[in-house]
Amino acid sequence: MRTRYAGCMTTRATILGLESSCDETAAAIVRGGDELISSVVASQIATHSPYGGVVPELASREHLRNLLPVTRAALEKAGMRQEELDAVAVTSGPGLAGALLTGVCFAKSLAWALGKPLIAVNHLEGHIHAVLLEHSRHGKVEFPLLALVVSGGHTHLFLAEQAGAQWRYRNVGHTRDDAAGEAFDKTAKLLGLGYPGGPLIDRLARHGNPKAVPFTFAQMKHHARQPSKRGGASEDNGPRFDFSYSGIKTAVLRYVETHQIFEAIERRRHALLALERPTDEQLLAHCDGQTLDLIASFQAAVVGDLTRRTLAACEEFGVRTLLVTGGVAANSALRESFERHAPGQGVVARFPSRAMSTDNAAMVAAAAHSKWLAEDFAGLDLTAEANLTLR
Ligand code: KG4
Ligand code: ZN
Repeated sequence: MRTRYAGCMTTRATILGLESSCDETAAAIVRGGDELISSVVASQIATHSPYGGVVPELASREHLRNLLPVTRAALEKAGMRQEELDAVAVTSGPGLAGALLTGVCFAKSLAWALGKPLIAVNHLEGHIHAVLLEHSRHGKVEFPLLALVVSGGHTHLFLAEQAGAQWRYRNVGHTRDDAAGEAFDKTAKLLGLGYPGGPLIDRLARHGNPKAVPFTFAQMKHHARQPSKRGGASEDNGPRFDFSYSGIKTAVLRYVETHQIFEAIERRRHALLALERPTDEQLLAHCDGQTLDLIASFQAAVVGDLTRRTLAACEEFGVRTLLVTGGVAANSALRESFERHAPGQGVVARFPSRAMSTDNAAMVAAAAHSKWLAEDFAGLDLTAEANLTLR
């Protein structure tokens, strides 16, 4: 069901974005797709930490609690009244079904109460627009453009192009099993480091030897086309650049078993559980050299694999601009790796700021702007789609 909003069109709309697909409740206001006015994120890390991962039921409950406060805070920070908004945008998928539903229901109610258009945004498109939002001041991006969306739930490669006001995407690679961020989180949990694992591994890896433990990845033919657990089959028979990160997690487990370091891991798990936000010194005090080498080698292997496969895709498609985005794009080694290797291939690599790499609502409001221009509005029958694909 589409709703018409006669006479409301401005070319620089002020859009409220809402995000609740996983474990962050966020609201933000962006004007014209490139002017960030305010952004508020309520993190649920403290809620999920004791469980070592996101508990979907708890996430939905926290979103219900936080949606109104983050929206009020975003309006207050912007110095705006809700009536001044031009539209309400919300992540409708992919993500946790219950978590998404809280945001979608809230956004629908708000849009209806204000009599403003509702815009549905794909979370993955949001991550891509997080980079475009922050880099718009550097001028227009050059095409062909490839986006690596690498987070806790996704590892996708999208070729993106603009068709009029709208963006179109073609998936040319995705993980066949675990996402890269999932591998970071599961490995950190296995090693008793805490949750979320990515930032902890990032901080510790710089203290270990990245060449100490040789991890290998399965050779996947770039042109192979196989069904996957996530993201479905590709839309065409073109070249594929798929990833796989469940094997490395098992390899870390094998290392732990072979070197009999379970007891040390349990001691670390208990010690770190007692600390809400361990400092680098506290983390290091609970990690011996062997563990630091293992962590550094794990990170180097994942970063190397992400870089190699992504740059192979860049070469295949003659890519000029590469956007690296999603939570794992906050990783220092991943940024350094692309910054070092992309220019040699004539590719400009761009990343969001660290705050914009992980889930936020500014990316949702930014992605919504092209839909505003195209009058691509959602009806009040909009619902959450846990497995929404991006096209
Ligand atoms: O984009 P995001 O906030 O949520 C999803 O859409 O999944 O990404 C969260 C993921 C988690 O797996 C987290 O461990 C990972 O991003 N992450 C990192 C870093 N910061 C967050 N992974 C590696 N290094 C980091 N610095
Ligand atoms: Zn995300």
